[in-house]
Amino acid sequence: MTRILVVESLSVEAVVVTSGDAHTSPEGCESQGVGTVRASLTACSLGERSVNIRSVARLAPSEPIGLSAPYVDETEEAAVLEVIRSGRLAFGPMIEQFERVLAERVGAPYVAALSSGTAGLHLGVKLAGISPGDEVVTTPLSFIASANAIVYEGGVPVFVDVDERTLNLDPAAVEAAITPRTKALVLVDLFGYPLDFDAFRDIAARHGLAIVEDACEALGATYRGQQVGSFGHPAVFAFYPNKQVTTGEGGAIALGTENEWALVKSLANQGRTDRGETFAHERIGYNYRLDELSAALGVAQLRKLDRILALRDEVALRYDTLLDEVEGVRLLCPDDDVYRRSWFVYVVFVDPPVDRSTVMARLAAEGIASKPYLPAIHLQSAYSDRFGFRGGMFPVAEAAGAQGLALPFHTGLSASDQERVVAALIRALRLD
Ligand SMILES: Cc1ncc(COP(=O)(O)O)c(C=O)c1O
Repeated sequence: MTRILVVESLSVEAVVVTSGDAHTSPEGCESQGVGTVRASLTACSLGERSVNIRSVARLAPSEPIGLSAPYVDETEEAAVLEVIRSGRLAFGPMIEQFERVLAERVGAPYVAALSSGTAGLHLGVKLAGISPGDEVVTTPLSFIASANAIVYEGGVPVFVDVDERTLNLDPAAVEAAITPRTKALVLVDLFGYPLDFDAFRDIAARHGLAIVEDACEALGATYRGQQVGSFGHPAVFAFYPNKQVTTGEGGAIALGTENEWALVKSLANQGRTDRGETFAHERIGYNYRLDELSAALGVAQLRKLDRILALRDEVALRYDTLLDEVEGVRLLCPDDDVYRRSWFVYVVFVDPPVDRSTVMARLAAEGIASKPYLPAIHLQSAYSDRFGFRGGMFPVAEAAGAQGLALPFHTGLSASDQERVVAALIRALRLD
């Protein structure tokens, strides 16, 4: 008989394990939380081996809480299996179905499925006709892909600082940055919060500019009751597994006209205008195609979108309530009659002098994942080296980028998990 004493920091638990005949190594158990270990250690083969009691003792008090998780179940399994069994893994009917269902859902005339959100942004910038030296006004507070898409085409990203409350671009500040060389606006619905579309459409019309909307984080968000993606300009969605719905990797672009759709489909398919039957290439294109498995996953996910959004709303609201009185953190701005966020990440802003990395380390010590969200793009070396951006140029974006912290957020997060996250966060915010 082997005895292991498991001691952890918040409470003391003794686990007596009788070595059994299963063959899982103790190290294999180590990566799991104590809750799991207690349940599974009897199945660990301890045998005659010496057990590293210290490493067991380091385990967190409960299951680790991860940052994000997709909402997938047997429906998605069945959908993907059906595609595998059909033998048609690319260029098949699921792509068409995915495009149709997404177009209907967001109220867009056309949707082209693509291999990623980044691919969608790149093709959106191409549709805007950006050529080397053209200026494109955009936000420094976003995932880097929204600015990269401009650079891919030789465009010059002109960053404008964000609004302190919404963290989106402020129309008046954008207008002030327009010059005779400005050709387009790349606008981001950051953290799923919709832009002021009326104002931006007005500016674009008055200055003759194209709009490319990065709605990668905003599927399901609405502005004046209208779905993001339905405003007529190209709007890009992304389906990485941390997004509201996932296709594994994947993206899509919502478009206003059939001509734009045909051009995007061709560019995404190596410049062909057929579905791959020939080797006739009319333009230089890319392989930005989505595959049938991913599209099937996407169709199953889109059918659940309303449920997913409602669950995400619930989780966000629970955090809002739990964090309401907590000192030292600020929350994202709330919805109102005009703007309705689609919850993508739950980000809090850690007020100085508390140090965000200390908070993260303390959360991690309690088994709780968190992540800086999002570092300002102009301070990434890829941008500061190439374009000469420096700290201090966009102070609101820089402060948000330095203080923003994403907490665990997904549909499967239970109320007790959230209470544990908030209790740990309160402990982590202490100033010693
Ligand atoms: C604002 C924003 N833009 C673009 C992207 C890029 O999407 P993808 O990773 O599918 O290329 C993301 C994805 O995280 C995003 O959040």
